[in-house]
Amino acid sequence: MKLEFLSEPLAQLHIPVLVAYSFEDAAASSGTVERLPAEVRGLLEELQASRELTGKNFECTLVHRPAGLAAQKLLVVGAGKKQKFNDAQLRRVVGAAVRYLRGRGIHDLAWLLDGAGGRLDSVQAAAEGAVLADYDADRYRTEREAERRIDRLALATGGTAASGTAWAGLERGRIIGEAQNFARDLVNEPSNRMTPSILAERAEEMAERYGLECQVLGPQEIRDLKMGAFWGVAQGSEEPPRLIVVRYSPADAPPAPIIGLVGKGITFDTGGISIKPSENMHEMKTDMAGGAAMLGVMQAIAQLKPRVRVTAVVPATENMPSGKAFKPGDVITSMSGKTIEVLNTDAEGRLVLADALTYAKQLGCTVLIDAATLTGAVTIALGNITTGVFGSSREWIDRVLKSAAAAGEKMWQMPVDDDYREQYKSLIADLANTGGRYGGAITAAMFVGEFAGDTPWVHLDIAGTRWSNEEKPFFAKGPTGAPLRTLVHLLVNHPG
Ligand code: BES
Ligand code: MN
Ligand code: ZN
Repeated sequence: MKLEFLSEPLAQLHIPVLVAYSFEDAAASSGTVERLPAEVRGLLEELQASRELTGKNFECTLVHRPAGLAAQKLLVVGAGKKQKFNDAQLRRVVGAAVRYLRGRGIHDLAWLLDGAGGRLDSVQAAAEGAVLADYDADRYRTEREAERRIDRLALATGGTAASGTAWAGLERGRIIGEAQNFARDLVNEPSNRMTPSILAERAEEMAERYGLECQVLGPQEIRDLKMGAFWGVAQGSEEPPRLIVVRYSPADAPPAPIIGLVGKGITFDTGGISIKPSENMHEMKTDMAGGAAMLGVMQAIAQLKPRVRVTAVVPATENMPSGKAFKPGDVITSMSGKTIEVLNTDAEGRLVLADALTYAKQLGCTVLIDAATLTGAVTIALGNITTGVFGSSREWIDRVLKSAAAAGEKMWQMPVDDDYREQYKSLIADLANTGGRYGGAITAAMFVGEFAGDTPWVHLDIAGTRWSNEEKPFFAKGPTGAPLRTLVHLLVNHPG
């Protein structure tokens, strides 16, 4: 999608569709519709009087041959209550316009900016909303409507030249939206087309294209590093595991911190010998969503160039039952030296993360942030809407929560507390890999935290938020790319 500004006076824009939004309660007269010429606003008032135009969230009203405009059509999108409007809502309203129009054969649209249209954050949100909305999970439908893609979104200023900050916002929004769609593509691939090796190849291609360092380790190296927990999960699969490391280390960044982004990369989770029920097992192709998001974050920051060092570590493997698979009761020795009794082979995420965190520390990371589709329990607590945030560092948890709010991703802090440690004690080893049903997301998080040790650590359980179960007016059903925007925001706004 090409993104640009149009600075001609509104009435003179010769374009297929001009898009404006209106607020509820005063649909014909508040929102960017206020900026339209009087002729067409008269018509909008009539539509409002007949309740065809209400301004309710994402309502789309298409006007042909709008009076006073050179545009062929005018689309008015409902933006909801004015008091609730913010950049997150703007992102969705733009998305709703894009999805409405692309379903109607339109490839080129102009979005009317508000009076303060030059604000970096709002231009960025608009661009993100458009790029994210121009996505569907229908990759392998042979009659897929390829022509549904939007070719161009122009932001119409209504007569003034766009400022440098506005252009910067547009570029940021494009980069972040595209990186998030890259992550969504990785998550959307089925496991026969997204093996650990393929994920590693995609990481290498991305790193090469954006000038990042990338290193991929295979089975022998994983064993040589004594990653007994990662290997325990990987040993049951015919597909060789990969440990993917991508580094961003700009010369102008201070030597510390080095932020470690660790993403769970289970390309398919059958549960192993503690096998999952077959119902919904296909969803476990998404069990590498944390890893995909981290690769997307690297793609974004390679272009946005914040002055901070970042290392992504993605342990990628399948979790399969086989004659070689690890079994309930097995005791494995993690890279850290801690021994683990495997009570349930389906609690594999925390095992691969344990060794990945240890490795990230060995690579010099001084802060650890992991993202993982770790537990069904977090979906019971927070649904598909909100990511669970856990961690050991008040400071870094607060930074993550602040960035989440700014980036329009919902997150909520969950507790960690030593009193829960009893639940994952083992009779035979240092730790057991499950903590029972009660507080399952907490004990899983805390198990991972045992391997972060004293290094400041934040854990994001994205088991619920990795996937959108319904089609939204502004966002396709399918992979979401969460929590990419939050982490990019955190890194781009890192002081220093
Ligand atoms: N990958 C799953 C968690 C998951 C569930 C992700 C639903 C996305 C949607 C994870 O590996 C898992 O199986 N967790 C178990 C842990 C249990 C065995 C302690 C779970 O949550 O049931
Ligand atoms: Mn599992
Ligand atoms: Zn899993």
